[in-house]
Amino acid sequence: MNPVLAYLLPRTGSWVSGMEVSKELGISRAAVWKHIHKLRALGCTIETSPRHGYRLNAGGDILAPETIDIRTKILGTCIVFSESVTSTNEVATKMARSAKDGTLVLSLIQTAGMGRLQRSWSSPPGGIWMSLILKPEIPPVLSPRIGMMAAVAVASALRRAGFHAKIKWPNDILIGDRKVCGILIELGAQMDRLEYAVVGIGINANVNDEALLEEWGATSLGKELGRTVDRSEIISCVLEELELRYLGLGAEFQEIHREWEAFSATLGQEVMVIGWSGNGDLAGKAESLDQDGALIVGTSQGLVRVLAGDCRHLRPLNRSGCRSTAARPGSEI
Ligand code: BTN
Repeated sequence: MNPVLAYLLPRTGSWVSGMEVSKELGISRAAVWKHIHKLRALGCTIETSPRHGYRLNAGGDILAPETIDIRTKILGTCIVFSESVTSTNEVATKMARSAKDGTLVLSLIQTAGMGRLQRSWSSPPGGIWMSLILKPEIPPVLSPRIGMMAAVAVASALRRAGFHAKIKWPNDILIGDRKVCGILIELGAQMDRLEYAVVGIGINANVNDEALLEEWGATSLGKELGRTVDRSEIISCVLEELELRYLGLGAEFQEIHREWEAFSATLGQEVMVIGWSGNGDLAGKAESLDQDGALIVGTSQGLVRVLAGDCRHLRPLNRSGCRSTAARPGSEI
């Protein structure tokens, strides 16, 4: 953690002189000032006064290991925190074999965030960019359960925080018809044994750049709420909701499956699966989700089982027979 932030955090709301910080941390005043600049760029609200020094404001959105209330027994009990990494999934994958089950890799920004289907994932300050290293005792064939579990856990955590979060197949989280969170699962496995799963979760928490959100066809928690959300508390809740389900991943999967269906924004929708099985797109109605996480789509040719792909919801027609909103790129989501 940034040493200046570590010093200011317990003194939130109080003035602290530059001299004191520099003396206590054994660094020059110029170095203190550089840290302050960096922290502000990362979203901390720090006032400065020539007479009083620095004051970290309460209510700002500060994210650090010390601000996360760990209420879990396994997940997040070991945290690897950075101000900037290429991708938390990349960091987590590199350390996965030797890491403790439930290790959380968290970064304030990612310079090369990764999305599903080889896409990139923009990760500016204000978001929650995290990856969990999990070591579930399940055979590799059951690994699709991990993504379903993660989607249900994030949706539940966001619902606890008051958002009407839904799941878009396979594991995007929407508020309304806009994406607020993406999940990327990467596995390390042998033929018969799952060694680890890296569960990468990206939540547009306080990413409030309208132009950026519009470009992504996305939304953020802050935008939906009209104020800054407490990222640390969101992370605590995600960890709790995940741990609850992680322990029952093998035996109690029926319940996770049921929750996925209950939270689904996809089932019952007319959908288009782009680049399905490499030979074109597939259109039909999303009928159900099977136990392997595959989407069952009713098409003119009958039921088709879709294991992976880019699923778009086609908007239902309104009563006048028109598309329900003005067309914009991404009006299928
Ligand atoms: C998607 O919807 O395409 C998945 C996006 C997953 C983004 C998260 S952010 C934290 C973790 N690190 C990454 O590089 N990707 C995931």
